[in-house]
Amino acid sequence: MVFGEGRSLSTLMIVGEGPGADEDAQGRPFVGRAGRLLDEVLSATDIDRDDVWVTNIVRCRPVAKRDNNLRNRAPRADEIKACGIWMDQEYRFVSPQLVLCLGVTPAQALISRQFKISEGRGKWHAGRNDVPTTATYHPAYIFRLGVDDRKSVESQMREDLQMVADRLGTIKHAA
Ligand code: URA
Repeated sequence: MVFGEGRSLSTLMIVGEGPGADEDAQGRPFVGRAGRLLDEVLSATDIDRDDVWVTNIVRCRPVAKRDNNLRNRAPRADEIKACGIWMDQEYRFVSPQLVLCLGVTPAQALISRQFKISEGRGKWHAGRNDVPTTATYHPAYIFRLGVDDRKSVESQMREDLQMVADRLGTIKHAA
């Protein structure tokens, strides 16, 4: 199982889909290729990963077997429900003031079942426990795009992270 990690009582909690192969091997969230892109976008917007809590909506790597290889897949509703107990504990333990979902799966679990990244990204929504919550593209989605689409989606992701950084700044100033 891969649990969340970071600073307890973090202002920002970042929630991904589920561990991939690298995360499964190392027992830590977002340490593979998707994690490196996340780190890059975080540092471009001056968000220090050590200051945030990084976790996933499910704790075990969701896999599908194809041609004798294990491939990542989106977590199913029953898996998300089964892991709900961990998510609830994290909300209690971290007490985030802002939540950023990476990809539609955590956004549908924490904001609304009908959530669509194309319509809801770049805006704040009332998430679980009424915590202001937003969503952007999942970094792994970006790797599946062609060069031109990738540039445009990556720059939208940076804009979304900048919006989070700006709000984080106001909370830190107020604190
Ligand atoms: N993708 C995720 O959604 N979470 C991880 O921890 C790694 C890749």
